[in-house]
Amino acid sequence: MKHLIDKLYETHNLSKEEFVYLLENFDQETSDYLFSLARTYSQKYFDKEVYIRGLIEFTNYCKNDCFYCGIRRGNSNADRYRLSKEEILSCCQTGHELGFRTFVLQGGEDPYYTDEIMVDIIKSIREGYPDCAITLSIGEKTYDQYLKYHEAGADRYLLRHETADEEHYKKLHPESLSLENRKECLRNLKRIGYQVGTGFMVGSPYQTTECLAKDLAFIKELSPQMVGIGPFIPHKDTQFGNFPAGSVDLTLFLIGILRLMLPNALLPSTTALGTLDKKGREKGILSGSNVLMPNLSPIGVRKKYDLYDNKICTGEEAAECNMCLRNRVSSIGYEVVEKRGDFVEDTIG
Ligand code: 5AD
Ligand code: FES
Repeated sequence: MKHLIDKLYETHNLSKEEFVYLLENFDQETSDYLFSLARTYSQKYFDKEVYIRGLIEFTNYCKNDCFYCGIRRGNSNADRYRLSKEEILSCCQTGHELGFRTFVLQGGEDPYYTDEIMVDIIKSIREGYPDCAITLSIGEKTYDQYLKYHEAGADRYLLRHETADEEHYKKLHPESLSLENRKECLRNLKRIGYQVGTGFMVGSPYQTTECLAKDLAFIKELSPQMVGIGPFIPHKDTQFGNFPAGSVDLTLFLIGILRLMLPNALLPSTTALGTLDKKGREKGILSGSNVLMPNLSPIGVRKKYDLYDNKICTGEEAAECNMCLRNRVSSIGYEVVEKRGDFVEDTIG
């Protein structure tokens, strides 16, 4: 198996068959070997610096009904909220004081936020925080909408493809959503000039290793600047409430693979990883990731942005998470830095 890891390290790609073989047969020794090579790359491009992104979950209204997600439209138990522009700006202010230089506006697909409202919010952040990057994570929109937000000052966009397998996509989503449209959105975002992040859940219901191999092949083809992956975690008010959670070890292994595939990409160690394993986020960094995305949302709404059960950090203030993360990162010999942390084209070779 080591020879496949070496090949991935040198060529940044493997065939689907080779990925399937690795994913089905890896053991601790293989993982440790993969992680050490992954760290070679993360340290080559980022030293031991970890970038932080302040996540502002500004609405949990959503017009979609994804079968895995706790804030899906059909969940009548969800306690809905929306943040005003003033509330969002106040999150940015807190974040800026704590050293954040990227703000991520994430929300369900909420028609209340018309393009006019979104553009106004983006422009206000852009004016108030000219030294910060603005990332959007608000789902599928048209080319023109993405263009308007970009012109207003948004730099980056996160839109996970969730699964690159057509059949699997249909098992996770209602008919109103399609993998083809999701891919089209990602291509449009790239074309406009956003730094683009995609990604998928590990261990979502009906996922096979072939699905994962397709995810990796799709990511290679898209060549995004960021890739976010995390384990699937069931939410009690969804169709998938009784399915088991995804595997932490497989998620870490996939982070290592992604680091060898995309040596200079921005790879977060996700909250879902930290939810399933107390040391999950630290392990993610030691497997090759280099980004953390703590929450800046007001404490009163934290619990309501309830994508999956038992989500961590819903009772902690932004300042507490900030200290907690800095300590966690330094405990493994890395350092949180106050930088925008933009994607940089590979000139090192
Ligand atoms: N478990 C893990 N991740 C989830 N997401 C949504 N629901 C869940 C869940 N139950 C992820 C999706 C989405 C991101 C914002 O959160 O991948 O893109
Ligand atoms: Fe939120 Fe540790 S990161 S409490």
